[in-house]
Amino acid sequence: MPKLLVIGGAGYIGGHMVSQLVKAGHHVVVLDDLSTGFQTAIDESHAQLVVGDVGDRNLLNALFKADRYDGVLHFASLIQVGESVVKPARYYRSNVANTLTLLEAMVEHDVGPLIFSSTAAVFGEPEYSPIDEAHRQAPINPYGASKYMVERMLEDFDHAYGLKSVALRYFNAAGADPSGQIGERHDPETHLIPLALHAVLGARPPLKVFGRDYPTPDGTCVRDYIHVTDLAEAHLRALEYLWAGKPTTRFNLGNGNGFSVQEVLNAVERVTGQRVPYEDAPRRGGDPANLVADSRAAKSVLGWCPQYGELDTIVEHAWAWEQKRVKLT
Ligand code: UFG
Repeated sequence: MPKLLVIGGAGYIGGHMVSQLVKAGHHVVVLDDLSTGFQTAIDESHAQLVVGDVGDRNLLNALFKADRYDGVLHFASLIQVGESVVKPARYYRSNVANTLTLLEAMVEHDVGPLIFSSTAAVFGEPEYSPIDEAHRQAPINPYGASKYMVERMLEDFDHAYGLKSVALRYFNAAGADPSGQIGERHDPETHLIPLALHAVLGARPPLKVFGRDYPTPDGTCVRDYIHVTDLAEAHLRALEYLWAGKPTTRFNLGNGNGFSVQEVLNAVERVTGQRVPYEDAPRRGGDPANLVADSRAAKSVLGWCPQYGELDTIVEHAWAWEQKRVKLT
C-alpha cells in the first residue's frame, strides 16, 4: 500500500484529495498547520494528522526519517490574489521559502515524487484562449509569481537532483464531494460560488459583482470552473504517471468552458430555485477578464477524464454541501 504525505490535507482541495486517496487504498499522513485548514476535514480513523508547518525543517526531517514515503502532495499555500499584493512577504515566505525547505528535505532524504498545486495565475493576462502549457508565463501578482517561482525550482531540482514532479495548474476549483460529506470552506470566503450560495441562504449580505465593464460578452469576468473531485482525480493520475518513471512536467486543469460571473449566478438560481441577492460593484484588483484552460495535455498524457464538467452539477454539489453546513452551524 503506497504511503503518501499530503501537505495541506486539511484544506479544501487537499481534504478532497485525502478522501480519494483513502478510498483508493493509500496510506495517508497529513501535515497541516491548521492556519486555514480544518481538523474536521480529516477523518482521523483513515488518515493520520500531524499538526505542523511545512517550513519546519526539523519536523520534515523527523517525518522523513520515521517513515518511507512513496510520494508527497503539496497543497499548503496562501491563495488570495488581493492579499498577496499588499502582503507579498507573507506569500513569498509561505509559498516559496517553505516549499524550498520541503524540496531540500525531500532531496536530502531521497523522497519523491512530488505533486505540486499550481495555478492559472502563473500566466497573468492571457495572450490567447484557451490557455495551453506553451502559453508564456507572466504573473501579474505576487500570488501567481510565488507559484511560478516554485515551478522554476521544480525544473531546477529535477535537473540538478533528479527530484521528479508534476505541477498541476488549477483554474477555478469549485464544487464539493458528491457524497456531501466534505466541501469548500475558507475563512474568510472570497470565492464566487460559495459566496453566491451564502447570499441565497441569507447567511451573508448580497453578493458584489466585481465589474461589468470587462471585454467579455456580458461584461463580467469569465472563468473555467473545475470540480474539486475531478481535480483530485488528476493528482492520482499524475502520481501514477510519475511512478511509471515519466518526466517532470506541468499540466493545466480546467474544463475548457468559460462561464461569466453572470452565468454562474444564473446557474445558482437554476439549481437553488431562488434569486441570488446581488449588487454591482467596481472591479476587484488583479482579476484578468478571461481565464480558460486548454487541458488536452492532461487528458492525453495522464488519461485524465473529468466526470463533473457541467456547471450546474458543480453548483448542485456545492449547494448540497452549503445547506448541510448551515444545518451543522
Ligand atoms: N467575484 C465576484 N464577486 C465576489 C467574488 C468573486 O464578482 O464576491 C468574481 C471575481 O471577480 C472573478 C470571479 O468571480 O471574476 C471568480 O472569482 P473567485 O474569487 O471565485 O476566483 P478567482 O478567479 O479570483 O481565483 C481563483 C483562485 C485563485 C487563482 C485564480 C486563478 O481562487 O487562487 O482562480 O487560478 F489564482
